[in-house]
Amino acid sequence: MTVDRSVFQALESAAANMAPTDPTSVPLRVHLAGLYLSAGEAEQALKHATAALAAAPHDTTALSVAAAAASATGNEQLADGYRAVHTALLSPETAQQRTPEAPPVQRPTESGGHQPPVPVLEPVAEPGGWDSSEPNLVTLADVAGMNDVKQRLQRSLLGPMQNPQLREAFGKQLRGGLMLWGPPGTGKTFIARALSGELGAKFFSATPADIYGSYFGQSEQNIARLFIEARLETPGVVFLDELDAIGGRRSRRNTDQARAVVNQLLVELDGMSSNDGVYVLAATNAPWDVDEALRRPGRFDRTVLVLPPDAPAREALLRLQFNGRPIAPDIDVTALVRGTEMFSGADLVRLVEAATERALERSMQVGLVSPVTNADFQAALRDTPPSTRAWLSTAATYLAHAGTGEDFDELRAYLRTHKIG
Ligand SMILES: Nc1ncnc2c1ncn2[C@@H]1O[C@H](COP(=O)(O)OP(=O)(O)OP(=O)(O)O)[C@@H](O)[C@H]1O
Ligand SMILES: [Mg+2]
Repeated sequence: MTVDRSVFQALESAAANMAPTDPTSVPLRVHLAGLYLSAGEAEQALKHATAALAAAPHDTTALSVAAAAASATGNEQLADGYRAVHTALLSPETAQQRTPEAPPVQRPTESGGHQPPVPVLEPVAEPGGWDSSEPNLVTLADVAGMNDVKQRLQRSLLGPMQNPQLREAFGKQLRGGLMLWGPPGTGKTFIARALSGELGAKFFSATPADIYGSYFGQSEQNIARLFIEARLETPGVVFLDELDAIGGRRSRRNTDQARAVVNQLLVELDGMSSNDGVYVLAATNAPWDVDEALRRPGRFDRTVLVLPPDAPAREALLRLQFNGRPIAPDIDVTALVRGTEMFSGADLVRLVEAATERALERSMQVGLVSPVTNADFQAALRDTPPSTRAWLSTAATYLAHAGTGEDFDELRAYLRTHKIG
């Protein structure tokens, strides 16, 4: 991991110029701690995290960095203490006891045996409120069809991850993240959730809205925090949804903020080998807009193309949507599957909704439940063209200038089969 030393020096001197008790110094100190942590300099990270906590003892971000730093120095007892306070601050019960009179949080000591404190919650600064959830109950079995995608995920991620010996042997190759890409609505986000379910991992999902903040330095700090929190709860999956918007080309965005976010992401990805147990996934429908630096080896160099669902997947998806709806028993599912080539999962959901609406309208006219018929589906099909077409044409234009590669060749074959481009 290499970070320009001058960055550390600049931040160090900025921090040194602030009063130790100044709460506005906290974001800076936390940021510095996170950078040192990513650089593998645990003692320095701990020093700055502790300084941040001195200024703001209830700052959950400072606590999470402090825990990660303490753990990195090998002081698990201290790390556990910080984690306990962090957990207490975030628990719903304590969140209800927002009382300004509550005693300040005790700083955990080496003895680690103190009572859980009654913390005072500070208002949570949004964004940064990403969705972190327990291991997903969705697994790959819930993803209809997509056998090719599943096989590739099995080969490139799940197999090695679930087999420690393989992981050791292939450790180097497993560094970095995996990027799912393809047309909108094809289930990329859904698959990412399913993967975390497969791994039994906690899922930290961030969208551009979670990352981009309005004050200076907030966005890259949000990235650092996201990774810090994931490292605290391994195994964990960090999922960056809409990577093109989070890590868009610095040349194109040309804003300091976008540049800083990409740089911070590079720092985190390059530091990945040190945080075994954190897997990084991303999804995008505009891979050509993702900054090139993020695509280099060791970063998002493994990619999986997620195309519109094949016939078995469409059938499974349609049947799933039929559940709980008054669908006529003589519905010709085979014809529907045939008529929905290139439909994304989201398109299929819309199609069934549109057909159901027609039946509902009729039912209201006659005052009786009139089930959804083949004719309703035919009419809905006429009104609901697949949304993937525009994307596929754009992709064809891009491919005209792109090189070869497993994903590209797969997409080329798909475009050829569907006579696009
Ligand atoms: N193979 C599938 N099996 C089950 N559900 C699916 C499948 N593909 C898509 N879906 C469903 O379709 C909807 C859209 O999927 P999702 O949001 O994951 O698409 P996406 O590829 O992330 O789209 P975007 O690029 O617009 O973010 C979801 O509600 C998901 O449950
Ligand atoms: Mg998505």
